[in-house]
Amino acid sequence: MNSGLTWNKALHNIGIASLDEQHRQIVEQVNRIISAIKEDAGSEVMHELMDGLISMARQHFDFEERLMREHGFPGLEGHATEHLGLLRKLDMFNETLFFSDPHRLALLQAFITDWAELHLLKGEKDLGEYLTSRGLS
Ligand SMILES: [Fe+2]
Ligand SMILES: [Fe+2]
Repeated sequence: MNSGLTWNKALHNIGIASLDEQHRQIVEQVNRIISAIKEDAGSEVMHELMDGLISMARQHFDFEERLMREHGFPGLEGHATEHLGLLRKLDMFNETLFFSDPHRLALLQAFITDWAELHLLKGEKDLGEYLTSRGLS
């Protein structure tokens, strides 16, 4: 099993302070969830952590899409579709997760780790470069 994510400024920052801070907070929450899975936390704790992650994700996606729209980012549509898919999966996990089932937990852990690594950390460099080129920081 994966042991969580380590925030690395040089690797993960995309150069836009507000987005970088939100990403860092999301990764922290993902790590809390990974720890809770390892510690076999009860379903009440798990749901609370997942609710927290989902509400952070919603706020972050709204913020990010607004920024993309304001600055005419060409990848907006595809990116927003990805956001929608992520939210659907998170909701699905939160609704159907049986916290005593190790297979479901492994799936959840793999999903949130991939999300944090692929979408947040690697997939948004383009957006960072685009916004930076338009004078944002
Ligand atoms: Fe995004
Ligand atoms: Fe993002």
